[in-house]
Amino acid sequence: MDLKRRAFLRLAGTGICTLPLTISGLTQAGQAAAKKQAVQQRLITLEPEQAEWFSQSPPTDLWGMGQDILELEQHVPAEITVRNRLPDPSSVHWHGMRVPNNMDGASGLTQQAIEPGSSHTYRFTPRDAGTYWAHSHHNTYEQLARGLYLPLIVEESTPYPVDHDHLLVLDDWRVNSTGQLDLESLGSMHEWTHGGRMGNLLTVNREITPRLQVEAGSRTRLRILNAANSRIMTLELNGLQSWIIAKDGQPLTKPLKTNGSLTIAPAERYDLIVDIPADWQGEQPIYETSSKTQLTGAFWQVIPGNERSAVRQDPQSLPANPVPVLQGKQPDQQAQLLMTGGAMGGMRSAVYRNTRMSAQKLSVNKQAWAFNGVANLPDTPLLSARSGETVEIEIINDTRWPHGMHLHGHHFQQHGSDRYEAGIWHDTVLMEKNEKLTIRFQAGEPGKWLLHCHMIEHQAAGMATWIEVTA
Ligand code: C2O
Ligand code: CU
Repeated sequence: MDLKRRAFLRLAGTGICTLPLTISGLTQAGQAAAKKQAVQQRLITLEPEQAEWFSQSPPTDLWGMGQDILELEQHVPAEITVRNRLPDPSSVHWHGMRVPNNMDGASGLTQQAIEPGSSHTYRFTPRDAGTYWAHSHHNTYEQLARGLYLPLIVEESTPYPVDHDHLLVLDDWRVNSTGQLDLESLGSMHEWTHGGRMGNLLTVNREITPRLQVEAGSRTRLRILNAANSRIMTLELNGLQSWIIAKDGQPLTKPLKTNGSLTIAPAERYDLIVDIPADWQGEQPIYETSSKTQLTGAFWQVIPGNERSAVRQDPQSLPANPVPVLQGKQPDQQAQLLMTGGAMGGMRSAVYRNTRMSAQKLSVNKQAWAFNGVANLPDTPLLSARSGETVEIEIINDTRWPHGMHLHGHHFQQHGSDRYEAGIWHDTVLMEKNEKLTIRFQAGEPGKWLLHCHMIEHQAAGMATWIEVTA
């Protein structure tokens, strides 16, 4: 789907409503004020859905959120009612959004799960424009594997100049020989102690090799999200000119040219600008190369363009979001986070639920990883900071596995990893085995914020802690 086309259709649909506003003689400031007071209401239904992926077998049963995208306006209060029509309790986390803590959707920490048949309303005002996602945060390893997520776009107030705006949501499903999700293998301890659950079916926007329509010679914004449980994806953009303009929703101060290939950990997002060559036509593949076989994720469907010049200026940067300035600030709070455990990690014991346990006893409790010697959420936070204080956490990956570390409710900058340019904001960061990096951020909304690995099986098996922000 082309988001630009959707926006156009939406505006066309609301043309009648905007007319009376103009007639009533509201000044621009008046209109802005009226818009400010408005609430954007949305309804999300957690429900079973089906995908027609295989012609030889019946549709595949999934769980979904009743739509394929959630679009919100920046700075306008949102009220999102979530109805649960699933047989299991659930919750919705707004990954990357800086929301009040009680709206964060972390079941068991910031709210009770939403029971089947009941609903829950989330209220927050999107502070930052960009590419985010909403996903279940209850039994996440199962609910994410079933597809319980939704890309979330917060639109910039001034539209960014591109010809097309496409979404590329990558997912990695495990299906069995009857074309259904392989649910029996959920919870496999072998996978939880290794790289997490890997699938055998790649989809883009929940479809098999969809076509993204673009004109030859056009410029496209490409919003990429890795929604897989654990697979780190690598996209090959086939020699296309491309620039990163945002990471995890936050604009880069200067667009960064890519070398045509992009590695994306689970839950990370990249917004790219891609120039389609003027001499392209027909179908052009976008490859995903994380496994031994090169897979085709999607195709560009290139249609003739109307005399666009082949030579373009480099893209401009997106307008910055109101993220706090960190430059020149000394940390007020510091902590160290030592990641241990997993296969070949040699972890002998760890504390789980206030009890020291041997590796074997941990395994009985489905725990295999630890942060600072504690498997899963400790009673006390990793650190406590006052809202507004500068926080620095040194994260040491003392395991044989890569991890994608995610902090709720905040964006941070990192140093120590040369995979990312300095100064880029993240809410999720990929760490290779034995890598060490430091994240810095300003403590935001008061409350309890999770810090966990987004290889969701690792989170379930122990890689989770939390920080406390006080008023
Ligand atoms: Cu994307 Cu704790 O989550
Ligand atoms: Cu991990």
